[in-house]
Amino acid sequence: MTQDALKQLVAGEAIRYVVEDAVVGVGSGTTVNFFIDALARMKGRIEGAVAASEASAARLKAHGIRVFDLNSVNELPVYIDGADEATEHLYLIKGGGGALTREKIVAAVAGKFICICDRSKLVPVLGRFPLPVEVIPMARSHVGRELRKLGAHPVLRENFKTDNGNLVIDCHGLSIVDPPALEAELDHIAGVVANGLFARRPADVLLLGEAAGVRTLARKAG
Ligand code: A5P
Repeated sequence: MTQDALKQLVAGEAIRYVVEDAVVGVGSGTTVNFFIDALARMKGRIEGAVAASEASAARLKAHGIRVFDLNSVNELPVYIDGADEATEHLYLIKGGGGALTREKIVAAVAGKFICICDRSKLVPVLGRFPLPVEVIPMARSHVGRELRKLGAHPVLRENFKTDNGNLVIDCHGLSIVDPPALEAELDHIAGVVANGLFARRPADVLLLGEAAGVRTLARKAG
């Protein structure tokens, strides 16, 4: 099975978590694109969607799905999004596409976060995928210095601006043994808008596309 076929498989499975007659939170990336295409087939049974990126909003609208501003939505039972890396504890690295801040906001609002990935994203320890950090432009050098103190090799993402008009620094060379602690530490650097660790609000369910089918990992309560 190709990686795209696995993404499509897992995206199709995520449809089962969509709550009818409600607004669904939609992340971004290539796996989510398959989910949006599948969602279009049931668009008459949902109220609409909230999108975590301009690209996803455009794709939803192209399918005729109503896109709401997050501020106008009182309840968001489910959020579906991909990840760049995931652990069995359902801690994630996200932001490969640069939409990490909006993704984090929508995940924070949602009742349930369903993460959809192909099997290649599952890792024992996060950090092989460079951790993205969204940064206010004037703080770029300061944040870079602080990231180096934490053992990262920071690389500015070239010719890239987030949907919020900010920069992304990708942190190479990290082995993230305590994701919640590092997430908090990075958030405290002045000039950091958000970082791509989703550990303090991890996924609730991880759907993994494998050749044998979809494997479901659920977060244990507590
Ligand atoms: C976008 O900023 C990311 O957080 C995506 O969720 C992540 O990069 C996964 O993307 P793919 O589904 O394209 O691998």
